[in-house]
Amino acid sequence: MDTPLPAWPYPRLIAHRGGGKLAPENTMAAMRAGAGHGYRMFEYDVKLSKDNALILLHDDDVDRTTDGHGPASGMTYAELAALDAGAWHSPAYAGARIPKLEEVARYTIEQGIASNVEIKPCPGRDSETGTAVALAVRELWRDAAVPPLLSSFSEVALAAAHVAAPQLPRGLLVEQIPMDWRDRLVQHDCIALNVNQKDVTPELVKMVHAAGYRLTAWTVNDPARARQLLDWGVDGIFTDELAAIRPDA
Ligand code: G3P
Repeated sequence: MDTPLPAWPYPRLIAHRGGGKLAPENTMAAMRAGAGHGYRMFEYDVKLSKDNALILLHDDDVDRTTDGHGPASGMTYAELAALDAGAWHSPAYAGARIPKLEEVARYTIEQGIASNVEIKPCPGRDSETGTAVALAVRELWRDAAVPPLLSSFSEVALAAAHVAAPQLPRGLLVEQIPMDWRDRLVQHDCIALNVNQKDVTPELVKMVHAAGYRLTAWTVNDPARARQLLDWGVDGIFTDELAAIRPDA
């Protein structure tokens, strides 16, 4: 007999990095774009600054998504917040800033939008970032109806988050599906496996569900593929194409 599936209080369509391609990723402008397109769940990346502020940033360095240079791990929050995190995307977003997690928490909770907080540690800071994110999320969302799903490619970060706030739901992100995916989900007491959408087949969906886990897929930008994955029963898909892939579809 199949193991029952864990509760999943999340919408099936998730705006990647807040606003997909519509606005500079991981900024408040991205969150507003996601909300404006009707998305009710956002994924975003969180790491620690040099002085231990939890901030939104995908890459290890600030070069691609700001007008600054160098690794984020060497910069204080004040230095990061002084960068322009919007002009690289388009002139309309010049002046956008790197937000703190607490700002995004306030906004998403107010708007009734669910979150997938991806723990994205600076190199070498996996454990402390996992702990810091989990403790902050537990506190910031303590009165929220739906807790964020924590996820990470870093199993060290996920393990630390598990210890720090075991009650928060966790998902394991994988670049490639490992043979021992079940053991890893058990080890970190996860509710979901989060895989590259290219690896999803109807058989995989059935197998992950039969084992008692939810399956999510990144990053799906083709509307026909999104429809197919939803029809196969995938529990969540991350997309950049917020205009073409409609959250009410
Ligand atoms: O968290 C899902 C997806 O965003 C994973 O890829 O590179 O955007 O962290 P990445």
